[in-house]
Amino acid sequence: MRFDIISCQPDLLDSPFSHSILKRAQQKGLVEIHIHDLRKFAINKHGQIDDYAFGGGAGMVMMIEPIDKCISELQAERKYDAIIYMTPDGQTLNQRIVNQFSLMENVIILCGHYKGVDERVRQHYVTHEISIGDYVLSGGELGAAVLADAIIRIIPGVLNDESSALTDSFQDGLLAPPVYTRPAEYKGMKVPDILMSGDTPKIEQWRFEQAIERTKLRRPDLLNE
Ligand code: ADE
Repeated sequence: MRFDIISCQPDLLDSPFSHSILKRAQQKGLVEIHIHDLRKFAINKHGQIDDYAFGGGAGMVMMIEPIDKCISELQAERKYDAIIYMTPDGQTLNQRIVNQFSLMENVIILCGHYKGVDERVRQHYVTHEISIGDYVLSGGELGAAVLADAIIRIIPGVLNDESSALTDSFQDGLLAPPVYTRPAEYKGMKVPDILMSGDTPKIEQWRFEQAIERTKLRRPDLLNE
C-alpha cells in the first residue's frame, strides 16, 4: 500500500514512520510512505500557501492552488483510491473505517492547518474526511500518523504474528481481554489459575468472557453497534 501525505510541516512526520513496526513494514516492501512538502507548490517565491479568509475573520486558510498542483502531480503518476483530509469535523476514526482503508492500494492524506483548507478542496478533491477525536490538534499531521499507523499494522505480513492484529481490541467488536506474563506470582499478585491450566478451549472461553465483561464495563456502546 502506498501513502502520499501532503503537509506544510513535513518534519512532524519524519519520526512516526522511522521506528519499529512502521519502519519494518517499509523495509519489507509492504508499504511506501511519501511525504510531500506543500510549500514546494507555493504560489510565489515567498513560499505562500495560505491567505486571509474572504469575508474576514481570524486565521489563515490553505489555498486551493498549491494543493491542486500537488494532487494533480501525484494523480498523473497513478490512480488513488482515496484522498483523505484530516480535520476535526470529519468522520470520527474507528476500527471499521481503518479496516476499509487497509484494503486500498494508493491513498493521499492531506493534513490541514490554520483555519483549514479552502472549501473547494473539500468539495472537489477530497473523498474522505477523518477526525481522530473530538478535540483540535495544531494540524493534521499527528492525525495522519495515527491513521497510517492503524492501517499499516493490519496489512497482512506487517506484524510477525499474523494473528495478533486479528485479536486486537475492536477487531471483533470487543475490547481485548487482560493479558499476563511471567512471573506467575509477583509480590502476592497472582495470574488467574485458568491461564496456567494448559486447557486451551477453557482459556479461549475465559478470554471471550473477559472481553465481554470488559466491553460491558468500559465501552457498553460497542455492544449496541
Ligand atoms: N486536525 C486538527 N484536529 C484534528 C483532529 N481531531 N483529527 C484530525 N485532524 C485534525
